[in-house]
Amino acid sequence: MIRDILLTEKKPVTDSSRKAGKRLMAQTWTHKKPVIVGIVCSVIATALYSSTPLFIKLIIDAIENRDLKRSGLIAALIVIVFAVRWLIAYLNSYMITLGGVRLVEDLRNMAYRKIQSMSFGFFEKRQAGELMSRIQNDTTVVQMFVTSGISEMVRVPIGVIAALSIVIYLSATLTILSLLLLPLIAVVITLGGKRMKKHSLLLQEKVADFNASIYETIGLAHVVKMFSMEEHEMRKYAKENRDTVNATMRQVKVRASYSPMVEFLGAACLAIMLYIGAYFIVHNIHDPITGKLLTLGSVMALFVGLQQIFTQINHVNSLNLTLQHAFAAAERIYEVIDMPVDIEEKPDAVDMPEIRGDISFENVCFHYKPGEPVLRGVNLKIEPGSVVAIVGPSGSGKSTIAKLLPRFYDVVEGRIAIEGVDIRDAKIASYRKHIGIVPQETLLFRDTIKNNIAYGRMGATDEEIIEAATAAYAHDFIMEMPDGYDTMVGERGVTLSGGQRQRVAIARAILMDPKILILDEATSSVDNVSEVYIQRALEKLMKTRTTIVIAHRLSTIRNADSIAVLEAGRIVEIGRHDELYEAGGAYRRLYDLTLAASGAAGGEISPEA
Ligand SMILES: Nc1ncnc2c1ncn2[C@@H]1O[C@H](COP(=O)(O)OP(=O)(O)O)[C@@H](O)[C@H]1O
Ligand SMILES: [Mg+2]
Repeated sequence: MIRDILLTEKKPVTDSSRKAGKRLMAQTWTHKKPVIVGIVCSVIATALYSSTPLFIKLIIDAIENRDLKRSGLIAALIVIVFAVRWLIAYLNSYMITLGGVRLVEDLRNMAYRKIQSMSFGFFEKRQAGELMSRIQNDTTVVQMFVTSGISEMVRVPIGVIAALSIVIYLSATLTILSLLLLPLIAVVITLGGKRMKKHSLLLQEKVADFNASIYETIGLAHVVKMFSMEEHEMRKYAKENRDTVNATMRQVKVRASYSPMVEFLGAACLAIMLYIGAYFIVHNIHDPITGKLLTLGSVMALFVGLQQIFTQINHVNSLNLTLQHAFAAAERIYEVIDMPVDIEEKPDAVDMPEIRGDISFENVCFHYKPGEPVLRGVNLKIEPGSVVAIVGPSGSGKSTIAKLLPRFYDVVEGRIAIEGVDIRDAKIASYRKHIGIVPQETLLFRDTIKNNIAYGRMGATDEEIIEAATAAYAHDFIMEMPDGYDTMVGERGVTLSGGQRQRVAIARAILMDPKILILDEATSSVDNVSEVYIQRALEKLMKTRTTIVIAHRLSTIRNADSIAVLEAGRIVEIGRHDELYEAGGAYRRLYDLTLAASGAAGGEISPEA
């Protein structure tokens, strides 16, 4: 899994990444003003740069003619041309980068919006944090493509064409003769590109393997210690480490040999040109094609012009690599942007009427995976203001019922209605904000305790927050912390116990003051002392609203207005504690097996209950 994520960072060009590349280009076009200005400036700057050989010819010819005035003029011209180029190159970088960062800004917002609009189920399955951090990286690669890739894509061909026209103008014959080796250079560059790609891919795979195995063994460090396998793990690590070194060196060998080889062939071309040039000059031979007499200035200019051509050509491989990385990154970004949203609000969704807490499950069927039904025709009517307890063996579907009510998932069959309105016909926010949930495990943001509680209702005053925390029996332990309500919690702050986190979650729910409250085994992962507090806080919280409580504690269950017994996705019994206990059916069995035991452990339940 980790290896896959690491590996997707670099993969060879496929049809789909080429498609993503096209789409990326098209999207770059949405910022066409800066991009066009940038490209035009790039063309001008490149053309001006390519004019260097001309100046060399002019100045050397002037020197040969002992014409100091002309030399001075040309020198001044060089200064002017490169001053103009300065301004244009500045505009080029500025505008292209502007286009690039704007594009990245769009892509990031699009991806983040998509991830935020994904359903609960999406986050249950995926590590969305990892996904988002991959997006951050991928967009940076894409930005590189726009800022340097697009410029290069323009610079290389324009540079080659400009330089080529100049050298042909200077001496067509010498140009043709010196470029005789060009096919050989092309072969070397293509071959080198292929081998470089292969080895950099092998290296990526090696590094991905290496990293994945580190994640794994460090994640399982306690198992390693239990079995005293540190030595073994160290040896394994050292071997993978060495394998990575070897793969790096193999890649370097390829990279280090090809580029200088191209440079060598280029130098050989230049040497051929220089010698033939010398021969032409010494023997006063006119260029057979253009008929012009060759000067020392022309030969020196040819030298510089040809060298420019070879340098540009040698760039093609790295440009190619930049493009490949950018397209692969774009492909992954678009994958996220194109994810289908599984739970979508209807365009004509209505606002929920005033919510009193009238809930009905009507023949609700549900599965996470087709063929594995989790709920099979659940019917449940909940009166406003009542407390309904759902009990049943683990895996019977209790939590699933709790997840369907806020529409974290959509029912497969049947319907769920609040105040008689099918929740699929209502605006999601219009009823979700009235549903408070205290889950089994509470996760807190890496933020202050105060802000974590205020997440229940943004904009709550400090007094309201303290009031909610007090009602949740959280105030006292919060005041004992170093900075009170401003104490940071989470990774870089204090660690709260399960019971304390649960009380923060209850404070959140109290602050939110929802019409409908869902408690999913809110006390199951909590020590006994916390449990007593939490129980009291919850009982207060339940008083004024419709509550669905998934409970393992008898006291909660006994006080419920009705108890629904769930077995394998079906409600098999509904009634009050005494009735169901007397009836001697599923509830009685469950009670004797588990509830009584857990009740006794909590120390609050008398056996004759
Ligand atoms: N996100 C999920 N993806 C796939 N299957 C799930 C998921 N959540 C729960 N299940 C399955 O659905 C069934 C009911 O789970 P759940 O509602 O959590 O039961 P309970 O809360 O009663 O223990 C179980 O078989 C469980 O494995
Ligand atoms: Mg559960």
